[in-house]
Amino acid sequence: MRLLGIISGFTALLSAAQVQAEVRQLPLPTSCTGVSALRFPGTVASGWSVMKIAGGLRGVRTVIWDANGNMLVSEAGKGISVHTFGDNGCINSTSTLISNVQLNHGLALTPDSKTLYASGERSVWSWTYDPATRTVSNQKTVITGMDSGIHSTRNVIVVKQQPNLILVQVGSNANLDMQSAQPATGRAIIKIFDMTNAPAAGHNYKTAGEVFAYGLRNEIGFVQDPAGIVWGVENSGDDFRLNNQDIHQDNPAEKLNNLGDPLTARDNWYGYPTCFSVWSPTPFASKGLKTGSQFMLAAGNGVSSDADCATKAKAPRLTFQAHSAPIWNAFDANATNMYVTLHGSWDRQPPTGFKVVEVPFTKLPSGAYDPVAPADSMTGYKDIFSAPNPGGCTANGLTQSNCIRLTAAGWDPSGRGLFVGSDNAAEGEIYILSKK
Ligand SMILES: *[C@@H]1O[C@H](CO)[C@@H](O)[C@H](O)[C@H]1NC(C)=O
Ligand SMILES: *[C@@H]1O[C@H](CO)[C@@H](O)[C@H](O)[C@H]1NC(C)=O
Repeated sequence: MRLLGIISGFTALLSAAQVQAEVRQLPLPTSCTGVSALRFPGTVASGWSVMKIAGGLRGVRTVIWDANGNMLVSEAGKGISVHTFGDNGCINSTSTLISNVQLNHGLALTPDSKTLYASGERSVWSWTYDPATRTVSNQKTVITGMDSGIHSTRNVIVVKQQPNLILVQVGSNANLDMQSAQPATGRAIIKIFDMTNAPAAGHNYKTAGEVFAYGLRNEIGFVQDPAGIVWGVENSGDDFRLNNQDIHQDNPAEKLNNLGDPLTARDNWYGYPTCFSVWSPTPFASKGLKTGSQFMLAAGNGVSSDADCATKAKAPRLTFQAHSAPIWNAFDANATNMYVTLHGSWDRQPPTGFKVVEVPFTKLPSGAYDPVAPADSMTGYKDIFSAPNPGGCTANGLTQSNCIRLTAAGWDPSGRGLFVGSDNAAEGEIYILSKK
């Protein structure tokens, strides 16, 4: 039975402005007592400011807010912390909500803030959450049976139109995970699960739920726009060679995918591990492919040409420079822009990433939200916060670097700006980027 057939309740979409109206607005502090200077330098674009709102954290991965405006932070390898704010906009209390070293990325609340979800590599758990006391109870395992591999984080979001549904992502278990072309592997995929009928031991990731989208190498971040459409950022492949030519420096592109409406989109294939997207068209000039075009790495999965990729795999809506490593995306209050954190690269010399970029969006006459730039653009986004010299940043392991390693992104319901996190092992930090 399809999930939609068994759902009775329907919660109307709340606009970001309506949600914000329920949370008290706070001033942007210039500095906060007890918060040290930025651990690594960062350059802001003109018209923007940066301030550090929290430091001394572990592996910040996801930042969300409850209905009272308290900030919940997923700290990889540690658990979930919760932070309250004083009238000056600074944090005035911090406590541990959940201690669990397995938690490493995903964190989501239902719109009523009463149910909390968080993920580790193999499982997703839920709790009953009380924003007034900032406590959890009633822990349940809601998803089990996710594979392990080179990609260990599993993003989770609650579908805001129908909060009984959650989307849970699992990446590939290798650079080229050939088996993951089959959705039954439960890898390189986003699945949708109904929480009202979860068995006591949890849904099995591979056999339960429905396929929202697959062929997604590692879709670490995704978020709904005000119309409910899901937009995801995808980390694409490393060390690519095509016809014995080394193309890895500037290909394949990292992707921004329009994943569709979670109430209706099912079983869409985004190309991995067969079709990838062009960043630099130079190696593809003789084929006439442009930035954002799909190309075939090797035949398989019913694909034997670039033209097959173009017709069978859903293309990204926009692309980012190869090896940028997008982690999270967030819309501003009225979805005028999307912001994407780029964790930074190991597979490119000089490295790229280590920055936050702004992707201008527009609302089309149809009511749909869409990036302003065309799909073949290499300039559809601009830097707003960056390591001063990304080309000099090291990436020895996932969280070691001499630079910021940007992860979480979320637009503050209290109106202070864009919150972004860093999971640099030297210090987990959260910054507020604000338009002056
Ligand atoms: C933090 O500030 C808020 C708003 O003034 C206040 O209600 C709360 O009691 C403060 N908490 C602490 C621990 O000081
Ligand atoms: C969205 O918000 C931005 C920043 O506050 C503002 O400049 C812009 O006019 C708003 N757009 C709409 C359509 O409300």
